[in-house]
Amino acid sequence: MLGLGRTRTQTRSSRSMSLGGVIHVLVTGGAGYIGSHAALRLLKENYRVTIVDNLSRGNIGAVKILQELFPEPGRLQFIYADLGDAKVVHQLFSQNAFDAVMHFAAVAYVGESTLNPLKYYHNITSNTLTVLEAMSAYGVPTLIYSSTCATYGEPEKMPITEETPQLPINPYGKAKKMAEDIILDFHKNSNMAVMILRYFNVIGSDPEGRLGEAPRPELREHGRISGACYDAARGIIPGLKVRGTDYKTTDGTCIRDYIDVSDLVDAHVKALEKSRPGKVGIYNVGTGRGRSVKEFVEACKAATGVPIKVDFLPRRPGDYAEVYSDPTKIKLELNWTAKHTDLQESLQVAWRWQKSHLNGYDSSLVSSS
Ligand SMILES: NC(=O)c1ccc[n+]([C@@H]2O[C@H](COP(=O)([O-])OP(=O)(O)OC[C@H]3O[C@@H](n4cnc5c(N)ncnc54)[C@H](O)[C@@H]3O)[C@@H](O)[C@H]2O)c1
Repeated sequence: MLGLGRTRTQTRSSRSMSLGGVIHVLVTGGAGYIGSHAALRLLKENYRVTIVDNLSRGNIGAVKILQELFPEPGRLQFIYADLGDAKVVHQLFSQNAFDAVMHFAAVAYVGESTLNPLKYYHNITSNTLTVLEAMSAYGVPTLIYSSTCATYGEPEKMPITEETPQLPINPYGKAKKMAEDIILDFHKNSNMAVMILRYFNVIGSDPEGRLGEAPRPELREHGRISGACYDAARGIIPGLKVRGTDYKTTDGTCIRDYIDVSDLVDAHVKALEKSRPGKVGIYNVGTGRGRSVKEFVEACKAATGVPIKVDFLPRRPGDYAEVYSDPTKIKLELNWTAKHTDLQESLQVAWRWQKSHLNGYDSSLVSSS
């Protein structure tokens, strides 16, 4: 058992020294899509990783792949726990000496959040408060927080900078904004190093094909455009529905900023490296380039090689025409830029994984046993 009785004043370097120079990162939601990719990258960079996940949405298969890749004792620990249980969370922190927390764990579907808002406020806002309280109580010095462009709502002026007013329009965006506010208020009287990353639309998967995106089948209806693209290519759904062709955009369909998950986790590692006690950094993580839904659909057809059927339908209420980031700040301050900006290539990488994992992580487990 590590790290009992530490105080808030300890710095990351002094504690890292006590662990032989290896930085120990708690990855919440590490069995999920982005968290598992982040854990892989951290392990490759020789960090020590503890994943905590309640597997409500993630996959134990992803954790098993990571365990197979990094079997050495002490590299990767998996803890099955629910962050909604404050007692368990405090126990987790009392039994481990974490140098940093990457807090990915969350429910994360806009549509679902409008149907079940309390679930979102509880899971996102309240659980972040619990994690923060535990970090404070056990002197964990660094927090990297997963936020979202949904906290901006529907700003008129594009591109979105970190100064764009945050006026979220759905419970998902509001819950994340509240969590950000809690973190920032706490930070005013704390020496914690805080990085808040606001992601745009995340796509792609591990280029070496070890990890992928495997949401629960029952969440498909709330899902994201990339998931719908693979499902349509696999014939699970009859085709793609493009909602709205009369927006004031180049081809009439909505514009979004798609960020490859490899670039996104790279931003996390850079944020961790550049985090400093008492400082807070807030960054958009996007490519800075908007792509239309039509463009996305064409890239999807080319990536999968499947002539996916596309239905063009009227607008969906609540969708906004154009959302893309201004990533200048993260480039200047963290020396980060998106490198995987070829939409078709990102989708092709993810499609390869989807094709070889028709039952998500279950099929890989069957074939490897
Ligand atoms: N995917 C995107 O496009 C996107 C965009 C912006 C922000 N984000 C944010 O990134 C983070 C990760 O998203 P993702 O796409 O990987 O989602 P995901 O559903 O694949 O992963 C989330 C993980 O958190 C776990 N989890 C949820 N509630 C938990 C709880 N109470 N206790 C323990 N574990 C819990 C789930 O089991 C899952 O493994 C989220 O915070 C999300 O809001 C995602």
